[in-house]
Amino acid sequence: MTQEPRHFIDLWRFDAATLRALIEDAKLRKAARTGWPKGAVDADAPARDRTLAMIFEKNSTRTRFSFDAAIRQLGGDSIIVTASDMQLGRGETIEDTARVLSRMVDAVMIRANAHATLERFAAAASVPVINGLSDAGHPCQIIADLQAFEEHRGLVAGKTLAWVGDGNNMCSSFLHVAGQLGFTFKMACPDAYQPDRLDIARAVERGATVELTDDPREAVRGADAVIADTFVSMGDLDHDERLAALMPYQVDAALMAQAAADAVFLHCLPAHRGEEVTDEVLDGPQSIVWDEAENRIHAQKAILAWCFGG
Ligand code: CP
Ligand code: NVA
Repeated sequence: MTQEPRHFIDLWRFDAATLRALIEDAKLRKAARTGWPKGAVDADAPARDRTLAMIFEKNSTRTRFSFDAAIRQLGGDSIIVTASDMQLGRGETIEDTARVLSRMVDAVMIRANAHATLERFAAAASVPVINGLSDAGHPCQIIADLQAFEEHRGLVAGKTLAWVGDGNNMCSSFLHVAGQLGFTFKMACPDAYQPDRLDIARAVERGATVELTDDPREAVRGADAVIADTFVSMGDLDHDERLAALMPYQVDAALMAQAAADAVFLHCLPAHRGEEVTDEVLDGPQSIVWDEAENRIHAQKAILAWCFGG
C-alpha cells in the first residue's frame, strides 16, 4: 500500500505532540549549527537527494530565501518558479500540475492566493505539499514565531499572546494552534476586520482560551507577547478603508507599556513602519523580529524533515 504524503497545510489538523516536536526540532537544528557558514550542510542531511519545488503566486522574501536555504542545509536542492510563468498561467489545471510535479520532485511548497489551490493540489499530489501562505493561514511562520517566543520567554503553554490589528491569515494560524499548545490568545480587531469565526470555534474546541475585543489596550494588558502584522495583506484591495479602520490599532510604545514588563514584540514581516507598528517598537528592546525572521530557516527545516518522514 502506498503511504499518504505528509502535507503541511492546515495547523488546526495537527495534534499537540506533532506541533511540539516541530518547534523542538527547529530549536535543535538551530543549536546544532551555531557558528557554521550558512551554506554548510547539516550532519544528518535528512533531505539528501531530495528536491523541493516552490511555486509563488504572490511576492515573498523570507519564505523564498528561507526554504531555499533550508532545503540546501538539509542536503537537498530546490526549483523555484513564479506561478504565472508556468502553464498554470495558461489554464493547465492544478490537479494535472500536481500529478506532473509529483513525478519530478519530492515535495512542493506553494504560496497561493486561494487556500483551495493548496487543497486541490494536495488532493492530486503524491508528494508532500507545504502551505507557504494562503488567504487562510501562514503555518510555517507560526512554528518560527513560537520558536522565537520560547527562546526569549520559555514554553508558550500558560502564556498570553495578544494580536492587534487585522484578523487575517496570521491571526488565523495562531488560533489554529492555541488549543493544542495551551496558550491564551487575545485579539483586538475592528468590527470590519475580525478573525474567521470558524477559526475561533476550532480553537475553543481544542481547549484554547480566546478573547476578542475592539480595544487594543484590553487585549494587550499583561500579555507576554504583542503581535502585529500588516494592515493590508497581499491581495487586499480596500487599502484606504483598511488604513482608516486599522490605524487606531497601531502598536506604539504606549500600547507596549500595557503588556507585561518582559513582553516581546512579534511581527512576521514585512513591516509597514508607521502603520501597524512604530519604529520605536520595531527597533526597540522588546522586539524579537530579527530572531523570528532567522527562525524561518530553522522552522522550515523541521517542517521539511517532518514532511520527509522524520
Ligand atoms: N513573513 C513572510 O512570509 O515574509 P515573505 O512574504 O517575505 O515571505
Ligand atoms: N498577512 C500578510 C502576511 C505576509 C507575510 C499577507 O498575507 O500579506
